[in-house]
Amino acid sequence: MNRPAWTIRRLPAVDEAQIDGLAGVLLDCVEGGASVSFMHPLTRERAAAFWRLVAEGVAAGRRALLVAEDAHGICGTVQLVFDLPENQPHRADLAKMLVHRRVRRQGLGAALMRAAETTARECGKTLLVLDTVTGGDAERLYTRLGWSRVGVIPGYALFPQGGYCSTTVFYRELGG
Ligand SMILES: CC(C)(COP(=O)(O)OP(=O)(O)OC[C@H]1O[C@@H](n2cnc3c(N)ncnc32)[C@H](O)[C@@H]1OP(=O)(O)O)[C@@H](O)C(=O)NCCC(=O)NCCS
Repeated sequence: MNRPAWTIRRLPAVDEAQIDGLAGVLLDCVEGGASVSFMHPLTRERAAAFWRLVAEGVAAGRRALLVAEDAHGICGTVQLVFDLPENQPHRADLAKMLVHRRVRRQGLGAALMRAAETTARECGKTLLVLDTVTGGDAERLYTRLGWSRVGVIPGYALFPQGGYCSTTVFYRELGG
């Protein structure tokens, strides 16, 4: 079996080169029409500013940031957000799962999800929660990986080019 063309690791800290690489992945996803908090057109400066905030959260231990890298640099990423109310120490939100279009449909999304679940377990978490665009590629991915579907919130957000999209909420129990 061929080895995957990428490696996945958790970043203990995020430097400027990594912020630039992460900005490139975010820009590609927004240009591709993904509803991931940002409207089109997204500038590289705004994308980098977003990742600098994420970097602050990583440095403070408020979130875990995983990246996938191939020969061209960062090509995918996902986060675990730990910055939750004190009565929810056992869970994390899974957020900003992004794969660059040049490496999609090769199993990287699934590999990032498994790596995020492993990291969450290592951090003592027993419950993960996420939401994603209803009817999108990611919804199929989470369903395929065994996440439990809670339901749909209609008209939750906008697509980058405009127009409402609904969101589907999922959870994953990691105990046992
Ligand atoms: C959703 C997303 C992360 C999936 O990433 P990905 O790397 O393409 O995911 P995978 O490769 O694991 O799976 C995607 C598809 O490729 C298929 N696939 C996986 N490996 C394959 C291979 N070696 N050969 C052919 N097909 C393959 C999977 O079966 C899956 O098929 P399906 O879409 O028909 O169900 C990616 O599309 C993305 O970043 N989208 C934009 C951002 C976004 O919406 N993020 C979610 C926010 S919650």
